[in-house]
Amino acid sequence: MIAIAPGCWKGLRRAEECRITREAAQDINYHDSQIVQLYNIANPPGPDTDFYVSLAGSTPSTVLDLGCGTGTLCCALAASGHQVTGVDPAAAMLAIARSKPNARFVEWVESSAQTYASSRPFDLIVMTGHAFQVLLTDEDTLAVLTTMRYHLGERGKIVFESRNPTLDWAEQWAGRVRKLPGGILETLEIIANNGEFISFETIYQFADKELRTRSTLRFPSAEHVQELISRSGLKVRQILGDWDSNPLEITRSPEMIFFVEHPGRNQTDSTTR
Ligand SMILES: C[S@@+](CC[C@H](N)C(=O)[O-])C[C@H]1O[C@@H](n2cnc3c(N)ncnc32)[C@H](O)[C@@H]1O
Repeated sequence: MIAIAPGCWKGLRRAEECRITREAAQDINYHDSQIVQLYNIANPPGPDTDFYVSLAGSTPSTVLDLGCGTGTLCCALAASGHQVTGVDPAAAMLAIARSKPNARFVEWVESSAQTYASSRPFDLIVMTGHAFQVLLTDEDTLAVLTTMRYHLGERGKIVFESRNPTLDWAEQWAGRVRKLPGGILETLEIIANNGEFISFETIYQFADKELRTRSTLRFPSAEHVQELISRSGLKVRQILGDWDSNPLEITRSPEMIFFVEHPGRNQTDSTTR
């Protein structure tokens, strides 16, 4: 996880141009217990959860969820009989995950995706909830793709999504207000929108107080993600554009859902949905 030095919000062009410190890599959003509770409330299971559960199929398989957050998907997969490992660097996120139904059937690991290491291969490796977009540099993205490649079983697949940068996310998000359960108002304010990066503030308004957090996400192009995938020794098999499994239409699809596998794998071997 990367933290951006104060003052980098303004005029942020490339994350590398700012002082990025790995040691300070503690994004408050995922480490503050109050914010994490709000994240969990604001992100209940949705069509993405159904998509990934159906992707895992009905035959019990081994699934690695990198950046598993509060464990919604891991627990849903465990409920379907899969053997699941959820990995996340934020102890506060994992604490919520551990309290969910079926959490006892999941192996929880506190680690970044870059450094996670196990001797077990997995049938399916996922990175969901746009966790891929918290990776702000090519170096970190390549390190995560390398983790994925290392842990991918011979016939396994990797699936993750990133928002389609062709759409104007800053415009869509500017001033967005949502009412969360419990009457909490969530408002987004855009701080910077430069090249591949959008920095924004999330404001949570309670009856008696207000909480504010800042985040930066990367919006790499489909071509750039494909280039990084091939540099990591993997191959893109398919890119979908939404949770209804429509193919990516670069001018209008909201998502870019990458299906990735070992390069040696045959077309006929693959079972994508
Ligand atoms: C937007 S949340 C998504 C969580 C979950 N996958 C979901 O669908 O709700 C991003 C998650 O990525 C985690 N994260 C941040 N940096 C990470 C890294 N380097 N490796 C793995 N996970 C990371 C955060 O702690 C957070 O839980």
